Parts: sequence; C-alpha cells; structure tokens
Amino acid sequence: MDRIRIVGGNQLRGEIPISGAKNAALPLMIASLLTKDPLVLENVPRLADVKQLERILENHGVDIAVHGRRPGSDRMDGQRMTFHAADIADTTAPYELVSTMRASFWVIGPLLARAHEARVSLPGGCAIGTRPVDLFLFGLKALGAEIEIDEGYVVARAPAGGLVGATVSFPKVSVGATHTIMMAATLAHGTTVIENAAQEPEITNVAECLVAMGARISGIGTRTLTIEGVSELHGATVEVIPDRIETGTFAMAAAMTGGDVLLRNARPEHLQAALDVLGRSGVHLTPEANGLRVRRNGNGILPTDVETQPFPGFPTDLQAQFMALMTMSQGTSTIRETIFENRYMHVAELARFGADIRVDGQVATVTGVSQLKGAQVMATDLRASVSLVIAGLAAKGETTVNRIYHLDRGFERLEEKLSRCGADIERVSG
Ligand code: EPZ
Repeated sequence: MDRIRIVGGNQLRGEIPISGAKNAALPLMIASLLTKDPLVLENVPRLADVKQLERILENHGVDIAVHGRRPGSDRMDGQRMTFHAADIADTTAPYELVSTMRASFWVIGPLLARAHEARVSLPGGCAIGTRPVDLFLFGLKALGAEIEIDEGYVVARAPAGGLVGATVSFPKVSVGATHTIMMAATLAHGTTVIENAAQEPEITNVAECLVAMGARISGIGTRTLTIEGVSELHGATVEVIPDRIETGTFAMAAAMTGGDVLLRNARPEHLQAALDVLGRSGVHLTPEANGLRVRRNGNGILPTDVETQPFPGFPTDLQAQFMALMTMSQGTSTIRETIFENRYMHVAELARFGADIRVDGQVATVTGVSQLKGAQVMATDLRASVSLVIAGLAAKGETTVNRIYHLDRGFERLEEKLSRCGADIERVSG
C-alpha cells in the first residue's frame, strides 16, 4: 500500500494550480444522465472518485471520452471529457459500484426523471457519520415517486407520466439531496420549489450546467430554487469550478509552513468564510488577477475559534486542516463541528505529532504547541488525511502518512504540487 513520506520544516514558496472541484465534477457527470445528447465537461480533475463514477455511469450506458487538456494549458490542468447517455441501458446502480462513494447515490434523481425508475444501492463513502438518505427519499416522494427499500437497495418508481413538480421544503440543508431533487425536477411536469436548498458553489455550478442544457431554474445561489420542468434537456459544454476545498487546504499548508504561495485559479468568493478565519489567525491573503496569494511572514498563528456551517459558512471539509493549523497557534482555540457527528478521527492522529487537542461532543479544544514533531500516522478519511500531510509539512523531522488511498479520492497530484513549492515530500510504493 502506498505511503507518503515527508521531511517537515520547508516553507512553501511558488505557485500551486488549483484543480477542478471534485464535488462539482461528480454531480456534473451525473447530470449527463438527463439527456440523450453529449455533455462536455472542461477542467475535470483526474481523481479516484471521478474514475469510480465513470464506472457507475458506464454501467447505466453512458459513453465516456477523455479528450485531454485545452491547448496551452499546464499539464496539471484538468481534462475535457464527454459524457454521452444516448440511452439508459440499466437503471440499477449495484452495491459493488455504489458502496465506496456516497455521491454515486445521486444518480437516483436523473434515472428516475428520465427512465422513470431506479434501483440504487444504499450508499457508502467516508466514515464521518451515519449519513442517512431520508432527505432524498422525502424529496423524491414529494415529486410523486413510490419508494421501497429492498435488500439494501432503494427502489423508486415515478408515476406513469413521469415525476410531478411540488414544493420540497427540506428540514435540514443537504448538498446531495439538493443536487438530486434539482436534477430530478428539471424533467418533472410543472413547477418544483426547493426550500432550504444548499447554496454551495458546486450547487450553482450544476444549476448553471442544467440551465445550459435547457432547464428552467431561478433562484440559483439562494436558499430557494424554483424549477419549471421541461420535456427534455439537450447537450452543453460546461466548466468545472476550481476546488475551494483544495484552495483552503493549500492556504492552510502555506500558513502552517510560513510560506508565500500563489494559488492559481482560486476563486476567493467561494471560500470567503474560511479566508476570514485565516485572516483573523494572522495569515495574509491577497486576491490577484489569476488567483489568491497566501503569506505568513514570521508572525505567529493566532488562536481562532470556528464553527462549521453549510455555505456560506465555514466548510466542514476544511475543519481537519484548520485544526492542524491551530495545533501551532499561540493559545487555545475551539472548533465546533456541526455538520457530521463523527468528523474528529484526525484528532488521535494529530496527537501523534504532539498536538494538544481535547474533544467533548461537537467541540474540540486545541491548545497550540511550539513545535510539532514528525510521526507515523494513518489516514482515515479524505480531509482528515490531508490534515496529516500539512501537519507533516510543518513538523520537525520525518512523517509517514499511511493508507493514502483516501487522498487519491480527492486531491490531484498532491505530492507533485507541494514538492514544486519546496516541500520535501514523496510517495513511497509498496
Ligand atoms: C457533500 O456531502 C460533500 N460531498 C461532502 O464532502 C461535504 O462534507 C458535505 O456535502 C457537506 O458540505 C460531495 O459533494 C460529493 P450533506 P453530502 O447531505 O451531500 C445529513 C468530501 O470530503 N443528511 O450536505 O453527503 C448528513 O448526515 C465530502 O469531499 C441527513 O440527515 O452532505 C449530514 O449530517 C465528505 N439526511 C448533513 O445532512 C440525508 O438524507 C449534511 O450532509 C442527507 C444528509
């Protein structure tokens, strides 16, 4: 099994290109199920999760082609890909394919909307909480679907003429349920209103893709989405937005090592809450024409409290990385995780570096130490894994991060991007 070996202590200096967002690319790929025409996606990151979803889509009959990068682009830039679902060959998403990645469950919306039936295995994914699917079922039932659970599968059927628009008022904000119901509603009869919708930039990317495909959606980027169903959607060409979580992660890595890095392609407006928090902790952030510059010049890291919230709040997907940063602050900070109930698995691993963290329910209290020390650590989920990598970059001595397959799910060329900026980091195979 591959490992990452890091010798800490080098400042990061240089430029890091930000890849296309995993959490936008996945639902955009799924949107291809809604039309018989090709959907072209630009800037798709080459990640294990993208490849896994390709297998799932191929099983439904989607033809997939990779065209390479745009002329003149960096070899780290994303690829142009075509997804062509001329026919839905199979409406079952089997356990073997779905169980490793939660987002694959989202195919249920487009399958039901276009093929009027779907049989989708209950999902898997990172072990960060129970992650139920009740909100998806609530929304699909509101659109007229009949649903039963059969041997670990959700079996859904649309009414004879197809799904019917309705008001779906979510009791809780869910990214996945918003994507799914929004996609399903594009081909429903009549108007759907999604209240308490997620507002993440990835939702906007998908909504704008659906509009480019002929969908009628208003309220994009707000808590209420109104979707007027149309009889069919057509092909389009859409670009995947830059990954705001990768941006925030590298910003925290630069802050931790005390470096100066330009995060190329970064869109600061997609992670303003995280940048505000970083600013309060003493990190200098300067938007530039082609990205975001992050610097920490000799000054210490100030303790800063944070609470995770749905967008536009501080993202749960940056909580572990921010905790790594706070382990080196000049005081005590508190971190409250409100989205997932089991997202502190990095705490025990950060402790191996000498970090001082106490967890009580949703709240972690982090008291900064003057120096982290390199250690053998084990990655437990995607964002937790990368928090160990950035801790290793700042720690004195050698760190080995084991079980890095989690990292490959969501970070493209991580070691290469970091070593280009001066980090002493390498992948060790076997
Ligand atoms: C998306 O997951 C992201 N995944 C996650 O990123 C991210 O952490 C999360 O949104 C929150 O921002 C992708 O976009 C592929 P939710 P999702 O439904 O959609 C509860 C990463 O590392 N809930 O918004 O699964 C749920 O348990 C991943 O890239 C229900 O109760 O998250 C959680 O407490 C990890 N019932 C809360 O809602 C439901 O039916 C928010 O989850 C659905 C969700």
